[in-house]
Amino acid sequence: MEGLAGVVAGSSAICNTHGGLCYRGYPIEELALRAEFEEVAYLLLKGDLPTEGALREFKQALQEYRELPCIVQQVLEALPISTHPMEVLKAGVVALGCAQPEALDFSNQHACALQILGALPAILIYWHHYHKHGKRVSLGSELGMAHYLLEYLRGKKPLEIEIKAMDSMLTLYAEHEFNASTYANRITASTLSDLYSCVVTGIGTLKGRLHGGANELAIAFILRFHSVEEALQEVDRLFANKEKIMGFGHRIYKHADPRSAVGFELVQQLKHLGDPKLFEIAVAIRDHVKQKKGLPDNIDFFGGLIYHYLRLERLYYTPFFVLSRVVGWMAHAFEQRAHNRIIRPTSAYIGAPKRPFVRA
Ligand code: COA
Repeated sequence: MEGLAGVVAGSSAICNTHGGLCYRGYPIEELALRAEFEEVAYLLLKGDLPTEGALREFKQALQEYRELPCIVQQVLEALPISTHPMEVLKAGVVALGCAQPEALDFSNQHACALQILGALPAILIYWHHYHKHGKRVSLGSELGMAHYLLEYLRGKKPLEIEIKAMDSMLTLYAEHEFNASTYANRITASTLSDLYSCVVTGIGTLKGRLHGGANELAIAFILRFHSVEEALQEVDRLFANKEKIMGFGHRIYKHADPRSAVGFELVQQLKHLGDPKLFEIAVAIRDHVKQKKGLPDNIDFFGGLIYHYLRLERLYYTPFFVLSRVVGWMAHAFEQRAHNRIIRPTSAYIGAPKRPFVRA
């Protein structure tokens, strides 16, 4: 029962991980390779795929929310340059919630969700340019989210293959039933708190290196090596010391993470854009870990390498996870609200027996 492993902690109609990973019944492989991220976001939030017209309106609303309220820009400007971008996203969401609060009866919950999803990439982009280049960039754009992020963070037009890879990554990370951050977000929703607080809870939980932080560490690990031999020796040393290797293992996927196969396909398409030796080292590490410990790689192992080949800053890898998983968090918050009972488990007490109060 430690870590609530194997405990069914509630029911949900959003995502199924049994017999393959599906969002609202659609297999992740098909969504990641054939759908646009915005279509997937609509599907998760609303329950069904959009019509052409509904998707157009949805995208337009997201694009409008890229223009950040003044107070959000001021908060972002006031943050120290050393702030971790995960904290930047948290601060940005808090400021958004102050600028346009959610109504107590949640009657504007869908508008708030669109605002959060539309504004989050703009928050990262605004902060990036303000603190790195001292520039207040104009955020309005009609680009899709994947294209917007690549173009505005790297400063030049991305290739079609890069946009597709980024778009697929956003889909792969968008939802994953009762993972730690989603469950934490559902607990916040169950107290009938507002959507901004639910999302901030999610960001804080995702930041940890056993959850969202793993992709940054996985690529940092791969980049340490100049040869396959050097990498495998280090893997063996870590195993001998009982240390964990980031990007491997999973609470529910003991044989294979279905998202990893898609990630592998993407990285194969991208490797010619950077140093292909890294790909060779990564594949060797993956095979060695599987062979020695039976541990499968999870999405974060090749995920980090994909972002590296896309020439994106490593500090932003976990924030990209937020920009996508926020969809899952908000879908779960809505589902929790629709059938709510406060989530409040109980604990088995293992402390001191009852005793009288005597000052030490
Ligand atoms: N490297 C080395 N050994 C690992 C490992 C890893 N990444 N992940 C799990 N193991 C080992 C554990 O040490 C444990 O060994 P033991 O039985 O000898 O004690 C065994 O595999 C079972 O793992 P466990 O820690 O019980 O799995 P969990 O379900 O509690 O934790 C994770 C799941 C994801 C937190 C864990 O696999 C991990 O820390 N992975 C690295 C971080 C990561 O990639 N996170 C992203 C997840 S998408």
